[in-house]
Amino acid sequence: MAYCPYSNFAVGSTLLTEQDSRIYTGCNIENSAMSPAICAERTAVSKAVCDGYRKFKVVVVVAEQQQEFTAPCGVCRQTLNEFRSSSGDMDVYLSRPAMDLVLCTKLSHILPLSFKLHNNAFCN
Ligand code: THU
Repeated sequence: MAYCPYSNFAVGSTLLTEQDSRIYTGCNIENSAMSPAICAERTAVSKAVCDGYRKFKVVVVVAEQQQEFTAPCGVCRQTLNEFRSSSGDMDVYLSRPAMDLVLCTKLSHILPLSFKLHNNAFCN
């Protein structure tokens, strides 16, 4: 479902929620003004958060690259970090479209030394 007329690089992402084991999918949605574009991962996060799910156990990313895995961009890593499961980390599965090979890693591995807001007076 990706809308990617500028890059022709279609990406899909899936999230598994901690509560209720719900599945949320997302695709990249590009824009002629460029900066309003949103990645597949953040589309999926937006859908889930709007439905009241804020804790994710697994994120999957698949793009139309036949030979390579596609890893989340830096902005998506930070967004996912905001919504880790209660266990404190998130599984990251990167697959090729053929689903013949899956790279399994952890969010903490691909986002070491993540930003943390120590004065969290504004967070709940
Ligand atoms: N893209 C994603 O959807 N997820 C990522 O983690 C990396 C990049 C999209 C953004 C843009 O629509 C296209 O891939 C090319 O950068």
